[in-house]
Amino acid sequence: MKVLFASSEVWPLIKTGGLGDVAYSLPHALLEQGIDVRLILPAYRGVLQQLDSFKILGWLSLNLAGKEHSVRILEVKHEKFAMPIWLVDCQQLFDRAGNPYAHEDGYDWPDNAERFSLFSQAVAKLGMDALKLNWKPDVVHSSDWQTGLVSAFLDNEVDRPKRVFTIHNLAYGGYFSHEEYNRLQLPIQWWSAEGVEFYGNFSMLKAGIIYSDVITTVSPSYAKEICTPEFGYGLEGVLSHRAYKLKGILNGIDTDAWNPQTDPLLPYHYSEKRRNPGKQKNKQALLEANGVAATKENLAAPLLGMVSRLVEQKGVDMIIEAIPQLLKSSNANFVFIGKGHPHFEAQLLQLNEQYPERVMVSIDYSEEKAHLLEAGSDMFLMPSRFEPCGLNQLYSLRYGTLPIVHRTGGLADTVVDAQFKKGSKTALIETATGFVFDEPTANELYKTIQRALTLFQQKKLWNQLQRTAMQQDFSWDKSAREYIKLYTPMEKL
Ligand code: ADP
Ligand code: GLC
Repeated sequence: MKVLFASSEVWPLIKTGGLGDVAYSLPHALLEQGIDVRLILPAYRGVLQQLDSFKILGWLSLNLAGKEHSVRILEVKHEKFAMPIWLVDCQQLFDRAGNPYAHEDGYDWPDNAERFSLFSQAVAKLGMDALKLNWKPDVVHSSDWQTGLVSAFLDNEVDRPKRVFTIHNLAYGGYFSHEEYNRLQLPIQWWSAEGVEFYGNFSMLKAGIIYSDVITTVSPSYAKEICTPEFGYGLEGVLSHRAYKLKGILNGIDTDAWNPQTDPLLPYHYSEKRRNPGKQKNKQALLEANGVAATKENLAAPLLGMVSRLVEQKGVDMIIEAIPQLLKSSNANFVFIGKGHPHFEAQLLQLNEQYPERVMVSIDYSEEKAHLLEAGSDMFLMPSRFEPCGLNQLYSLRYGTLPIVHRTGGLADTVVDAQFKKGSKTALIETATGFVFDEPTANELYKTIQRALTLFQQKKLWNQLQRTAMQQDFSWDKSAREYIKLYTPMEKL
């Protein structure tokens, strides 16, 4: 079976969040199960700069905004990738500094609709083997709004591949104006309430929902949640009408890149059976990397970490609100690495200025720092208001860094709250791996952190939680098999 896997980001070439991780690890898991998979992404400047060589597969002629774009399709072999990578090379749209979606100064590229319409059109053409490479996929699998139009562009093709579309985050709808739609000269027949139109604008994500044969999301709970007004962003009706083709499949993680026994980004390694002194030495390295002395007191004090895009979704505001009280009532310290909304960045920096020894803050995006934080912290904060899947809590579990999460989406599906056994005040349920709370408020978060801090002092129970957390299996095998089932031509949900 041949699968063309389209994504706007792929770790380690270019990544802004979990999509990049999944777009690397899922195709590799598929390959391991015998699927002939090709990855395709835009030829961003930052990606081309990392390559020594490429092969030109051919040129596609694409029509968009009344212009004819001659687009080069490149094939790359990269040591980190076990499959060929295809790049859609259109200098005018992708050869620029900054991240895939935004200028270095933080504003979205004004021509994003054009950039990702063109990319999607190229993917659809290659889905029909337009370059006559003798490689026509059975499935085109695309992800999120950036590739939502792939399925629409394939809609009129006879003998087209099966179209699978994964929603990693419904909060980003790929919304653009009607004027932009007209300027791009996108097909008039798509413009309806049953097509891409959404309250007078158009949504590329909606195109993916409407025109795909199968829709998936990245956890079973999120698949249910997005069919409700609370989480549906106005698309709950469209989605619940299509529940027959909607399925939640939990993300896996790359167990090679995120393995505390071998992680090349860690100064010290450790395993489930021998956690200390490795984990403790990483804690020391983490404190020192943040300019805080690794005194006996600091090493003994609980360290709560967070690695995150600093956006409303992640509930960072709840943490900011809870911290002053926690600093007063406990000896806990905090360490953050994140980038995002300037307001949250400023608030974290202010806490750091006020409490330099107790609230450590890096406004940064760094893989290396993220790995050290996962290994060196005792607990991981992830009070997201909503979370389609979440990868950081999975990395935390594997690193024995107990996650504190809001019961939502993939967090609810992957973390088991540290409840005591019925009738007992000393024995925890065997499956417990972290701390889960129901209402996304600073107060509930505060109470849950207090609960975690109390258990942190009970070393026997804490050890049980850490061991169970580290034993969890979030490798891709099972989920990749579920995707393969959906790829088969006649498979219905
Ligand atoms: P999301 O995709 O919504 O951001 P996930 O938990 O699925 O959330 O994935 C986030 C990914 O991005 C993880 O691999 C995480 O380590 C990484 N990440 C987020 N912020 C940073 C940062 N500031 N520095 C390094 N990595 C980060
Ligand atoms: C999105 C979601 C996150 C998910 C990731 C990978 O960015 O916010 O929950 O883990 O995609 O699927």
